[in-house]
Amino acid sequence: MNIGIIGTGAVGSPLARNLAAAGHNVKVTNTRPFAELTEKAQSLGASPATLEDVVKDVDIVFISVPFGAIPKFPQDLFRSLPDHVIVADTGNYYPFRDEKIDALEQGQVESVWVAQQLGRPITKAFNNLLSETIAAGGKPEGTPGRIALSIAGDDERAKQVIAGLANELGFDVVDAGSLADSWRQQPGTPAYCTELTAAELTAALDGAVPGKAPQIRDEIIGELAQRTSMPTREEMVAGNRARQLGKFLR
Ligand SMILES: NC(=O)c1ccc[n+]([C@@H]2O[C@H](COP(=O)([O-])OP(=O)(O)OC[C@H]3O[C@@H](n4cnc5c(N)ncnc54)[C@H](OP(=O)(O)O)[C@@H]3O)[C@@H](O)[C@H]2O)c1
Repeated sequence: MNIGIIGTGAVGSPLARNLAAAGHNVKVTNTRPFAELTEKAQSLGASPATLEDVVKDVDIVFISVPFGAIPKFPQDLFRSLPDHVIVADTGNYYPFRDEKIDALEQGQVESVWVAQQLGRPITKAFNNLLSETIAAGGKPEGTPGRIALSIAGDDERAKQVIAGLANELGFDVVDAGSLADSWRQQPGTPAYCTELTAAELTAALDGAVPGKAPQIRDEIIGELAQRTSMPTREEMVAGNRARQLGKFLR
């Protein structure tokens, strides 16, 4: 498959590396000078591309940038893509990082806002695994306890294609419903970066309570800000489970 990835940070890099290792043609872009981007791309087994080129001649584009960058993309970057190109959003809204976005503060579903900014349907996926989980948490299909991610969107074909890629990267998949339903996998919900199996994730999505997640998200960020060292993946997941699962799961 031909895959474009916008962003080579904590999430874009392991996505690119693992998709390339699985045999896909991956091109990536970021904000760096082209020589620096080229070096980064090569380290991932991918090709470097400009922002305009990374979305061309691909089957799927992953957007893996902070939310603040999305309204600044060129107006026709996504609007001009052929319908068959799948656009996948790995993003999450963090007001401390992205600055406040009024529509999201008022409760608009994050990826619905992203789709509006891009002027195009999108599918939400890979937002509810930690970058370290994407990088190293994959297991062969059928492994007991295999971690699942959820995919939300209105295009069944797109969800199936992304589910196939997720499986190749080592993850089970749960269908989280429409894009409007994707609030159930946003930061602060039980389904968010808690490393659950497919059955557990299904229950976690079902157990999300409307309107509660932003407060939990901000409490977790407040606690992280007080730390003097970065938590490990295990500490992050344990903290998320304690805060998110305990409050929300029925
Ligand atoms: N970190 C996680 O564990 C995690 C897990 C799941 C989802 N997410 C979400 O995924 C998204 C990306 O997160 P991240 O942690 O990967 O962020 P990150 O480490 O800060 O990386 C962001 C990447 O986006 C690139 N970028 C920013 N603006 C751009 C633009 N206008 N054009 C092209 N590239 C641009 C940056 O380029 P430069 O390299 O040139 O700076 C960087 O490579 C966020 O919404 C985040 O909430 C994160």
